[in-house]
Amino acid sequence: TGYITLDSGYMNTGSCSSEITFLDGEQGILNYRGYGINELAEKCSFVEVAYLLLIGELPTREQLDHFRALLSRFALIHEDMIHFFDHFPPNAPPMAILSTMVNTLHNFYPEMSSDSDEELLIIAARLISKIRTIAAFSYKKSEGHPLIYPRYDLSYCGNFLNMMFDKPVKPYVVQPEVVATVNKLLILHADHEQNCSTSTVRLVGSAGVNVYTSISAGISALWGPLHGGANQAVIEMLEAIHQDNNDFEKYIKKAKDRNDPFRLTGFGHRVYKTFDPRATIIKQACDQTLQALNVDDPLLDIAKELEDIVRNDDYFVSRNLYPNVDFYSGIIYRAMGIPTNMFTVMFAMGRLPGWISHWSEMTYGSDNSRIGRPRQVYTGYKKREFVPIHERN
Ligand code: CMC
Repeated sequence: TGYITLDSGYMNTGSCSSEITFLDGEQGILNYRGYGINELAEKCSFVEVAYLLLIGELPTREQLDHFRALLSRFALIHEDMIHFFDHFPPNAPPMAILSTMVNTLHNFYPEMSSDSDEELLIIAARLISKIRTIAAFSYKKSEGHPLIYPRYDLSYCGNFLNMMFDKPVKPYVVQPEVVATVNKLLILHADHEQNCSTSTVRLVGSAGVNVYTSISAGISALWGPLHGGANQAVIEMLEAIHQDNNDFEKYIKKAKDRNDPFRLTGFGHRVYKTFDPRATIIKQACDQTLQALNVDDPLLDIAKELEDIVRNDDYFVSRNLYPNVDFYSGIIYRAMGIPTNMFTVMFAMGRLPGWISHWSEMTYGSDNSRIGRPRQVYTGYKKREFVPIHERN
């Protein structure tokens, strides 16, 4: 093992070269294909950003219309897949349902190569469109309500909200402010270079497995509370603080206790050692959305007070622990009526274009086509004498 360097948690290992996303954690910079995240979140639609990540250039009007038409064309899922929803236990976590259903897409839809832009757009549109339908259907099934099918006249985000909240007895009115916020959140989540789930997609895909299964593995990785599952865990933590009569001291003490595994969810990041630029935009969007919806959520006040305490506490300051992308996003989703256990599903919908872009770059890019196969530093026994079973004690 002499030449193998141990890098536990891959703190400092470049696993691939990539042209998709640039991230400078010291300065808090995040660019997709060279475009700053602030500008993209302000000026683009999620579909436009998905195109940018996939193809490498912002689409022209015609290219965008074409991609949108593909998204509409692939919006339904095969009716036979709908029966699957009936057989999950009532409390099945939506992330488990999502990864299962995405993997199952492989049984219903053809595997294609993506070595032309058009083929890649078809693969991506199929996945990006169907994941939205699967997410909304899984929510409707969990509520025991009739499914609402996609509509061709609505935007990507508007369609999702309509499928989630429209009821035959009470039609949903798509609110432009809510659509704009979902759009922004999905853009902010669309890619983040070699995070745990994206690296998983690349690693699984590097074995040559199909795109649906690779993405399904990424969804499973995202589910973890240290990764995308943090947006759900944040709300659960804020609710617990609320129920404890805002006893911040108790939670701060637990988080600092080295013998207690508890962490303040929504703080800290492997790469950012300053503000996460996405968190700054989300905090602003949180204030705006709650105001637009006329929602007064005590959890927002708790979150702000907690952030204040953390930013003035030596333990957190010395470790560069700032609010991350998951800290305020859950409060927005809550205000929109999206249930807590669907938050990470929202993250998955946003991250999908990033995962597909990395899968494609890894599969068809010029220098990344090898199977991922890390080594290890072996610390076990050297050669031992075999002991027959009757001599063992
Ligand atoms: N609360 C309390 N202490 C913390 C926290 C936290 N949230 N995060 C890190 N620390 C401490 C940690 O105990 C360690 O202390 P010491 O140096 O005394 O041992 C130090 O800070 C460095 O932490 P680390 O675990 O070595 O850092 P990491 O880069 O391996 O972990 C992280 C990054 C995001 C997993 C971690 O900060 C964390 O667990 N945060 C809470 C979970 C969370 O919010 N996850 C979402 C991340 S952003 C979106 C995404 O990836 O999906």
